[in-house]
Amino acid sequence: MSGYAEDSIIIPGLNDPSQHVPAAPQFGSGSVGVAVAVVDPDQGERTAIASIVPDGATTFASVNDLASRLTGVPVVVVLGPSCVSDHELAAVSAMTAEHREVGVILIADELSTALLQTALRSGVKDVLGAPVDSAGLAGAIHRVGDGLAQMAVPSAAPVGRQGEEDLDPSELGRVITVFSTKGGAGKSVIASNLAVSLAQQSDRPVVLVDAHLQFGDLAVMLKLAPQHTIVDAVSVLDKLDVNLLTDLLAHHEPSGLKVLPAPLEPAFADQIGGEEISQVISLLRRYAGHIIIDTPAYFNEVVLALIEESDDVVLVAGMDIPNIKNVKLGLQTLRLLNTPMEKIHLVLNRANSKVKLEVSEVEKTLAIKAEALIPSDRDVPISVNKGAPVILGSPRSGVSKALEEFASTFVAQGAAPSAEQSSKKRWR
Ligand SMILES: Nc1ncnc2c1ncn2[C@@H]1O[C@H](COP(=O)(O)OP(=O)(O)OP(=O)(O)O)[C@@H](O)[C@H]1O
Ligand SMILES: [Mg+2]
Repeated sequence: MSGYAEDSIIIPGLNDPSQHVPAAPQFGSGSVGVAVAVVDPDQGERTAIASIVPDGATTFASVNDLASRLTGVPVVVVLGPSCVSDHELAAVSAMTAEHREVGVILIADELSTALLQTALRSGVKDVLGAPVDSAGLAGAIHRVGDGLAQMAVPSAAPVGRQGEEDLDPSELGRVITVFSTKGGAGKSVIASNLAVSLAQQSDRPVVLVDAHLQFGDLAVMLKLAPQHTIVDAVSVLDKLDVNLLTDLLAHHEPSGLKVLPAPLEPAFADQIGGEEISQVISLLRRYAGHIIIDTPAYFNEVVLALIEESDDVVLVAGMDIPNIKNVKLGLQTLRLLNTPMEKIHLVLNRANSKVKLEVSEVEKTLAIKAEALIPSDRDVPISVNKGAPVILGSPRSGVSKALEEFASTFVAQGAAPSAEQSSKKRWR
């Protein structure tokens, strides 16, 4: 059947019988002119979805029906739940291979990793769980539409995968890995607050990556209920480009920070190795000004790859003897790995604790000067339990000021340093 018979809204480039192409609908305040099409074999379903598309949509009964109407004009396609079939997803695959101007969103009744992988492999940009409300759908249409608009800019149009064009090294984002060889030292608190502070201070996007793959808790600390995780990015690595990757990021509304959360189940951690995480981080460099990475408290293949890939390694130490002993061993390992000393930034957490250890003694033992002293503050566990970073919840506290000041040292440094950057610090 044809979508024309029941279409009441004329969309340029899709179903305009006069062949006259007026301006396409505008999304929000941006200047993204992209048409929206809704596809679902079930008429009631497609009408219901079209009714919640803010600027209206044209409806089609099948992907092939829509594909035969495409004219090269950018279109965001919303697939309803009845499109979850091998036949329709194969048609999506063929359509997205031929029409790079089309960005597809799938609404699915049940979100499973298997479906997500199949959908993303078919060229779907975003998968939403049903039921979807108008605001959620509008957000997804904006994201996918923005990506299409960027592709339409001639200078940005790549041959090959989106975002793979050569960038000036100064445009690549700076990668900062937060690490400690002691569990509970404060890595996640420092990584999340550093990222939030950078998101507030910098013009470019900031992405926080949870590379504590088995037991990452950044999503909980930021009160996020992510639809996608790092597993989804890695499972479509052969198709992954900057647009697809940014579609998978969770949005932290209070700060504007983007987050790539850890797998929802520890078992999925096995799917991600050093090579995979490096590829994801390289793509993020093309999108964000800063990429902050939280890690587990031990060296594994992923952590080694991240340390290698990073411009900066923030080494977190607490103010007690076991902490100092483990961090000393960690520093020795970093030295054996030939990690350039100027990459390493020592942060002493709970530095005001009355534990009879002086900062100067710790620095002497570790043979490295601390670049930030973060005080102990009961606002920190309170903020963790609330899922609101302390920098946002208690901005005037000493701990927030220390974290903000530390973050500002990375804002001043901006993008990734050049390889020739001179070394000021030396291993001792
Ligand atoms: N400066 C601080 N003042 C008070 N409490 C703190 C401070 N830093 C961290 N904490 C508390 O210590 C706990 C552990 O911190 P966090 O989760 O950041 O450590 P971690 O190094 O990421 O741990 P893991 O190795 O388990 O991932 C947190 O629940 C937090 O409440
Ligand atoms: Mg942690």
